[in-house]
Amino acid sequence: MPSCHDHLPPVDLTRASAVSILSGEHRVILQVIDCLERIGQQAVREHRIPAGYARNALELIRTFADRCHHGKEEDILFPALELQVPGFGPTAVMREEHIIGRAYVASMGSAVEAGHVTAFADAAAGYVDLLRAHIAKEDDILFRIAQTMLSPAQDEAIVEAYRAVEHDDMGDGTHERMLAIADVLADAYGIERASSDPQTFALLTAVCGCHSVKG
Ligand SMILES: [Fe+2]
Ligand SMILES: [Fe+2]
Repeated sequence: MPSCHDHLPPVDLTRASAVSILSGEHRVILQVIDCLERIGQQAVREHRIPAGYARNALELIRTFADRCHHGKEEDILFPALELQVPGFGPTAVMREEHIIGRAYVASMGSAVEAGHVTAFADAAAGYVDLLRAHIAKEDDILFRIAQTMLSPAQDEAIVEAYRAVEHDDMGDGTHERMLAIADVLADAYGIERASSDPQTFALLTAVCGCHSVKG
């Protein structure tokens, strides 16, 4: 269904910008989400949670998707947009969905430790649906709007702030370790690696300096 934002150009993925770097991270999060969906289905089919893979997926979601990616959105990109448009609605909705997502992640974590197959599969399915819709809204609506709101200087300042998060807060090597785990999971569940696309790889390495995620 066409949206009212279709007149805005899609996110420009050919250069590293405030929104394209986050769109590149979305490709990895979707890769993990595809794996999580299969882990949930496997749990139901086999009446047991594949705990090692489930814990890997949860570590990726907590560290890469939530702390690193949602952290950049909530602490850097969204405040820059909210400064220009006080009471900006779209970022408030996205912040709310991050909170709903954390509740699903907490439920999945307790279900894995307790071995509760149905609780895990239900929370995993809920998280998969939420995140796919959330990422589509950011890529197709919010980021298209953001692209038109940020001046080149603002865009550059945001990318610099992302770089500081990767090096000072997350710590050098964290991003790289996360991407390696994401690819082990993708290989185990027959999902394509997001980093095998050169454009996505360039965006993923634009601020973190990871150079060994391929292979
Ligand atoms: Fe988000
Ligand atoms: Fe996002």
